[in-house]
Amino acid sequence: MTTHASIIGIGSYLPERILTNAELETLVDTSDEWIRSRTGIVERRIVADDQATSDLAAAALTAALMKAGIAPNGIDLLIVGTSSPDMLFPSTACLVQNRLGMVCPAFDINAACSGFVYALQAGVSAIESGRAGRVAVVGADALTRIIDFTDRSTCVLFGDGAGAVILEATDEPGVLGIALGADGSGADLLKVPAGGSARPITRDALDARENFLTMNGSEVFRFAVKIIPRATNEALAASGLTVTDLDWLVPHQANQRIIQTVGQRLGIPSDRVFSRVDRVGNTSAASIPLALDDLYTSGQLAPGDLIALVGFGAGLTWGAGVVRWTMARPTKEA
Ligand code: UT7
Repeated sequence: MTTHASIIGIGSYLPERILTNAELETLVDTSDEWIRSRTGIVERRIVADDQATSDLAAAALTAALMKAGIAPNGIDLLIVGTSSPDMLFPSTACLVQNRLGMVCPAFDINAACSGFVYALQAGVSAIESGRAGRVAVVGADALTRIIDFTDRSTCVLFGDGAGAVILEATDEPGVLGIALGADGSGADLLKVPAGGSARPITRDALDARENFLTMNGSEVFRFAVKIIPRATNEALAASGLTVTDLDWLVPHQANQRIIQTVGQRLGIPSDRVFSRVDRVGNTSAASIPLALDDLYTSGQLAPGDLIALVGFGAGLTWGAGVVRWTMARPTKEA
């Protein structure tokens, strides 16, 4: 019998500190009205001074393990999707593994905002090939650590957070088709120029503010509204399904205008396109599992629901995955 992978636990974590649009108005030449109307974002969370991406990831993973009823040493593989690791190395996954007392191999995947879907694909493949029975897949980012809070075109967009799922080998398919893609010719559109081997952090790099994220927003916007419908349809086709089979679209939470446009292009009713970008902003690799956990916790997801998860980001990268939801609705005390 073919082995499939299903989601048996989900959890998420947001840092406590809320950064409002009003506060951003004091930092750069912007307005609450501009941010709301151009992005849909009202507030976002930012890491505390003593927190790093591994702290967010560990908290989300702990919640997902509890929901699954699995001890940390019951996991065979840990994959963390992140593009804001605690440091260049060791991987954030190794830091999380040690924190939770896990005994499995652990590695990071950097596909920027597509990181969760890429990590999901790696986790599902490990299960389907029989190399792992249970895999923890985390999306975690603290992008505000690499945001230039003097650049109004980027600093209003991003927030920090983490989300995690536990995958387990099952007879019935939970995660169905996944479609991933990359186009490195768009690498310059969204990047952090310094801090890697091409441009080490030097006084010059710091003076040029090259240690911060830079983005061509309108080009990335154009890319997003084109690629999300395409990737979603590819993942559905790989599952032998079409968009009319979907109960939910959970897209990367970058901009409400993108979320709305792709919902319309796919012909999905707006109340079936999940959005929480107003409360969290763009949390990069965390955004899809955070949104999925929110949808689940709100009690709106029913067992058997068909969900498309779809992300896009720096690279350029993109990825969509179709999931048959198998977890029971949350109980009140959960
Ligand atoms: O996870 C990967 C993700 N990245 C994205 O998904 C980003 C995708 N792109 C976007 O979401 C949008 O392009 C932005 C929200 C970044 C920008 O919205 P836009 O409607 O594309 O605006 P724009 O870049 O074309 O700028 C329009 C105007 C410019 O002024 P001028 O040149 O027309 O005078 C900007 O300088 O808005 C100005 N502007 C701002 N004004 C007030 C840019 N940022 C701000 C700001 N506050 N924060």
